[in-house]
Amino acid sequence: MIIPVDDSTDLSCDVRGHGRPVVFVHGFPLRGLMWARTAAMRPANRRAIVPDLRGHGASPPARSLRIERMADDLVEILDALGIAGPADFVGLSMGGIIALDLWRRHPARVSSLVLCCTRADAESPEGAALRRSVADRALREGSAPVIDAMLPRVLGSGVDPAVRGLWRGLMAKTSPATIAAASIALAKRRDSTGLLGTISCPTLVVAGEHDVITPPASMERIRDAIPGSRYAMIAASGHIPPVEQPTAFSEALNDFLTEIDPVTPLDRRA
Ligand code: MLT
Repeated sequence: MIIPVDDSTDLSCDVRGHGRPVVFVHGFPLRGLMWARTAAMRPANRRAIVPDLRGHGASPPARSLRIERMADDLVEILDALGIAGPADFVGLSMGGIIALDLWRRHPARVSSLVLCCTRADAESPEGAALRRSVADRALREGSAPVIDAMLPRVLGSGVDPAVRGLWRGLMAKTSPATIAAASIALAKRRDSTGLLGTISCPTLVVAGEHDVITPPASMERIRDAIPGSRYAMIAASGHIPPVEQPTAFSEALNDFLTEIDPVTPLDRRA
């Protein structure tokens, strides 16, 4: 479905099933489709809400992006769906950064967090310079060369070649303007390390065993900073476990989601 936000932008959003809402927030430069298997395998008592973030997927390209605006978009999507209370948020990489911003500014809308292969720190000066050069290159040369340079770090070496080809093609469809805008948004992201100790909702931290972008050691630091958080490491995965190891990722996710809200015999997945 199409959900208008911020008065002027139509976001594409897949909504499936009934029950307690769980919002799946994709990374950069990905799209909601990265959660297709995860949403299909979700617990029977969950309603899956899977947006294409501003600029990404079937949502219109964006010339300028901010993490805070993308977080506000998620709140507006919940409002538009008539969900006034909190939801579970599952965020990968940039999606996890957005989920942390939700906890910072809209904690009443967050009932639990899953932070997968993501970052809590601000960008380093070297990292910010690199992201600015990615933005410039996308605007100068188009999306495909940027994606080709990025892909070996995004997907682990063990990923099925057909899956790699599919995601190469989908990522390369992201507009150069969006790649540039998201790179700048990531470069300007706030430091959330101090926020981690304030997280009081149930939280699962997920790492990919072979992730070189947000390696397990960095995810363990996030886990250690969040009181009472659970942790799962997905074997044989790079930076995108829901795409690379969908079954193992869903098992870890569903264990968490059903622990915080068990499925009953009356729940039926639609
Ligand atoms: C993502 O998947 O969202 C990106 O890898 C984010 C990043 O480059 O930090």
